[in-house]
Amino acid sequence: MRGVRVGIPDHPLRGDVTVPGDKSIGHRALLLGALADGTSIMRGFSRGADVLATLEAVRRLGARVADEGDTLRVTGAGLELGAGCDSAIDCANSGTTMRIGMGLVAGVTGACTLDGDASLRRRPMERVAEPLRAMGARVTTSDGRPPVRVQGSQLTAVDWTLPVASAQVKSAILLAGLRAWGTTQVREPFPSRDHTERLLAHMGAALACRAGVVALEGGQRLRAAEVPLPGDPSSAAFLAVAALLVPGSEVRLRDVGVNPTRTGALAILRRMGADIRVERSRDEAGEPRGDLVVRATRLHGTVIEPEEVPAAIDELPVLMVAAACASGETRLSGAAELRLKESDRLAALEQLAALGVPMTTRPDGLTLQGLDGRPLAAGRVDAAGDHRIAMAFAVAGLRAAGGVEIADPECVAVSFPSFFEQLAALGAPVGGG
Ligand code: S3P
Repeated sequence: MRGVRVGIPDHPLRGDVTVPGDKSIGHRALLLGALADGTSIMRGFSRGADVLATLEAVRRLGARVADEGDTLRVTGAGLELGAGCDSAIDCANSGTTMRIGMGLVAGVTGACTLDGDASLRRRPMERVAEPLRAMGARVTTSDGRPPVRVQGSQLTAVDWTLPVASAQVKSAILLAGLRAWGTTQVREPFPSRDHTERLLAHMGAALACRAGVVALEGGQRLRAAEVPLPGDPSSAAFLAVAALLVPGSEVRLRDVGVNPTRTGALAILRRMGADIRVERSRDEAGEPRGDLVVRATRLHGTVIEPEEVPAAIDELPVLMVAAACASGETRLSGAAELRLKESDRLAALEQLAALGVPMTTRPDGLTLQGLDGRPLAAGRVDAAGDHRIAMAFAVAGLRAAGGVEIADPECVAVSFPSFFEQLAALGAPVGGG
């Protein structure tokens, strides 16, 4: 695909849109559905490349998946899932498929090699390998990175303290714990997203969650369930910031997940002065959701503290774009994990400087001066194949005189294949580069 250029619209953004189903919950619905007895029905499946990688992975391990487009029927193989297998699983760009997948296969008498694309091959896997080894699995990594080989066995529960809050690592340990002898406990320094815990409970597992600790007894069988996916708040964040940045805009984002472990970005944006309301709130399948109604507002800079990072981790790139257009200084710290995502996102954000934003980066964050209503400079951005960097800079284009061109726009298919179409449908000028 050629580059895509996004420019300043000549009228406000308006519309009523539905974003793709939640990617994090989608992965978990496939993985837990594959471990359950019976057929789970998952509605609102996003069809992003990441969740499609998990779909193929669970098929390889022995689950049956009837793919009806945005509805999937997953017939699980129960706790015997993957037994005796010797499979190679291609996780493509998806860290969640690989990390939680490692936990899923650690407790089966089989072997599995998990690999991925060049971006995934740069990401650290010892954080999952170590606790799984402590439970009794044989796990080898390639200098700490993929490809990873997991030779499963009968596991024993662990009590594991995560050095860094990570829902992927927590979930991998919990899935391994489901097939282990004894009670597995995971402790985390700050709360990370809790979709695995909620879905385990929705599928009949008993687990105890108290401040910073989750405990799960091994040997429990899961029962199939209906899982209606809410819209992904991480995808919604791009369109929400787009609406905030174009004067006069008003956009309704329908049925978006508002699980408190995912709404950190909303809280930060509101603190910056954003007008974002949640309407029609309700709870389905253990996950809160509602419509986000976003009205353009003048934003001001803020300080983002380390403890706020886990609940806003995937939205930080687009939050930095909002901050670049706001008045005053924004300071982000405690976000070294951004360097270990699909790309080094703090390094990728340095491209804001080329758009005219005064900024400095540090190993764990950055400080920038917002342009306070003045336009960003035009530019061409290399997203390094990272979907969230591509979308964040596309949103920046809405405030750039001459627009911003994204050199590698196809990477948005990882989580939000219809992103550019939806942005254009709201009234943004989106064209060839
Ligand atoms: C995810 C957890 C987060 C997040 C990622 C999805 C998940 O990663 O950045 O996009 O679905 O569990 P970490 O677990 O590494 O924080």
